Amino acid sequence: MAILVAGGAGFIGSHLCERLLNDGYEVVCVDNLVTGAEMNIAALRQRRGFTFVNHDIIEPLPELPLLEQIYHLASPASPPVYQEFAVETMRVNSEGAYRLLELALQNRARFFFASTSEVYGDPLEHPQREEYRGNVSMIGPRSMYDEAKRYGEALTSTYARSRGLETRIVRIFNTFGPRMDPADGRVVTNFIAQALRNEPITVYGDGSQTRSFQYVSDLVEGIVRLMASNYSGPVNIGNPEEYTMLQLADLVQQLTGTSSEIVFRPLPEDDPRQRKPDITLASRELGWEPCVPVVDGLRRTIEYLRTVV
Ligand SMILES: NC(=O)c1ccc[n+]([C@@H]2O[C@H](COP(=O)([O-])OP(=O)(O)OC[C@H]3O[C@@H](n4cnc5c(N)ncnc54)[C@H](O)[C@@H]3O)[C@@H](O)[C@H]2O)c1
Repeated sequence: MAILVAGGAGFIGSHLCERLLNDGYEVVCVDNLVTGAEMNIAALRQRRGFTFVNHDIIEPLPELPLLEQIYHLASPASPPVYQEFAVETMRVNSEGAYRLLELALQNRARFFFASTSEVYGDPLEHPQREEYRGNVSMIGPRSMYDEAKRYGEALTSTYARSRGLETRIVRIFNTFGPRMDPADGRVVTNFIAQALRNEPITVYGDGSQTRSFQYVSDLVEGIVRLMASNYSGPVNIGNPEEYTMLQLADLVQQLTGTSSEIVFRPLPEDDPRQRKPDITLASRELGWEPCVPVVDGLRRTIEYLRTVV
């Protein structure tokens, strides 16, 4: 029996595929490469047990082997990109999720949905616990992503409740690491790419807004533990260590040794002021907590980005 990873040629998906292969599973990666890259899975394609299917999961699915687990990670994930592919983002998290949930039912497979800290919107509670229901604009410039993920969670929970499907939901907080697309507009890659090119580092607003950043191997460990656990509610996976954007820019300056200066630009509409996971639940249910310090993760990411920027 095999495991399907939808979105497996993306940043997080490719690390998950690698981990599952290392754990001895057969992995089928389904991806339409809208934001993913063949380069991310080039080494995996040389390995036994790995199959790549170039396919859009919004469309009827091709014939697949018998599956024991299905991971749905297929979705654009950075604001400029999901805003560019706005309708596709809504569809992949709703219609795409529906197709994979039906496939899970047919296979009696366990289904995993990659949700996001963006379901909390611009949170009025800090840090965010899973019980918090969020402060999201259903018509705002991020709604195609935030609301699609909320719908994806609702659909997943509905299949669990009314069809008896085994489901897991992770709420991923900002994650970074090698294989991120340097052009996708996320803050860590923006800062590093600008620093490596000795271009000005762009900070939006006054740089006092905070985010927490986790290294990708910590996330993958959390995902695998959640899938194996008995816990079916949504679980935050993120690093609670909080950084202001200015602190992050300073760190990137130091670690790259760049001559770039920091410049300030207006804050985009709907940009959350702060984000920080409460990981009590992950720690209690999964025995999980992040173990890669942000500085170490940044060093590894800088090393990778030097090869592609
Ligand atoms: N990176 C983060 O910090 C973060 C935070 C919260 C949630 N997430 C979620 O994690 C998942 C993976 O994110 P990522 O950072 O690896 O993004 P990514 O863009 O690198 O990966 C997404 C992958 O999904 C594929 N895809 C998109 N639409 C598809 C479709 N219709 N059919 C088939 N494949 C499709 C893309 O080509 C890409 O390979 C996403 O669901 C995202 O919403 C990521």
